[in-house]
Amino acid sequence: MKKNIYQMKTEIFKTKRGNKALFKKVKDTIKNKWLVAFPTETVYWLGANALDDDACKKIYLAKGRPSDNPLIIHIAKSEDLETYGEISFPYIYNLIKAFWPGPLTFVIKKKSIIGKTVSGWLDTVAVRFPSHPLAQKIIATCWVPIAAPSANSSWKPSPTSADSVIQDLDGKVDIIIDGGNTQVGLESTVLDVTGEIPVILRHGGVTKEMLEKVVWEIQEISSKNQEKRSPWTRYKHYAPETPVEISSPKERKEILKQIFSWEKVCFIGLNISKENNKQIFSFSSKKAFAKNLFETLRKCDTLNSKKIFIEQVDESWIGKALMNRIKKSAGVI
Ligand code: TXA
Ligand code: MG
Repeated sequence: MKKNIYQMKTEIFKTKRGNKALFKKVKDTIKNKWLVAFPTETVYWLGANALDDDACKKIYLAKGRPSDNPLIIHIAKSEDLETYGEISFPYIYNLIKAFWPGPLTFVIKKKSIIGKTVSGWLDTVAVRFPSHPLAQKIIATCWVPIAAPSANSSWKPSPTSADSVIQDLDGKVDIIIDGGNTQVGLESTVLDVTGEIPVILRHGGVTKEMLEKVVWEIQEISSKNQEKRSPWTRYKHYAPETPVEISSPKERKEILKQIFSWEKVCFIGLNISKENNKQIFSFSSKKAFAKNLFETLRKCDTLNSKKIFIEQVDESWIGKALMNRIKKSAGVI
């Protein structure tokens, strides 16, 4: 029978570093225009050959992703950035030096080698050099850049564990590599560097405060021109099945009262006294909250609750990206 993206036999491998036989399998799969899912330092990815339009189309099909939301291409060394796009301003080199490899994606003017599918018909392309050793090794082994979004169904919370990938993509990809939970837990920062002043299109693992230490000025897209420059803002994201409501610290007492009167609601936040309650998810830092947010949202869906309360955090450092994902999951942005 001919292979079909909706009826695949998915092979699952559990390894943090990989091995020769697995790399060969991955290389053959990518070469034959099929898909592979495995961890990066931010979230799990669903990868295909970025230079092959047909392979990239399969990513959109497997995820149910709108075709005008372009993909990030991943490279295994900084120098490759110039192969795929224009480095128009010297400050880009300073950013590369400070943050690559890592959770920072550059949007640059694309070169003609980049096809329409991967770039969503835009004249720019998004490029990232990930720091996860397994991701680096796989890109280097395949000898092509890898186009990859997060390895989840389009509107669901991004996957930060292999179990979440399996939940969404079993039967739609050839290979899933289980390399454990991802470190950062939120996606990369997407930075438009096509102008004199870099513009944050999506907050992520590299914070505005970190970027400000390297460049003179940073802008954030305003809601007016958001959709034009940042395609993902048009779509629903990170939504669990259960409705999400953002709460303020002032409401904490009330929500805890609800939970302890055996109402089926979940509560996620910083430093909440849990008293071993399975509906309360408490983290000791914003970093830990960010690392675990998406998995916790998926977990809440298994608890049959009628609502998930998430307590807001301050928006400094990783708090900005964290609140962005929380607001998206609640559908308020
Ligand atoms: O950490 C990450 O960024 C993960 C890992 C796998 O690298 N990837 C990820 O991909 O989150 P995805 O597809 O979920 O998000 C890609 C983001 C979207 O916000 C998309 O709109 C934006 O990058 N993007 C891609 N190409 C773009 C372009 N040419 N102009 C503006 N935004 C672009
Ligand atoms: Mg995504």
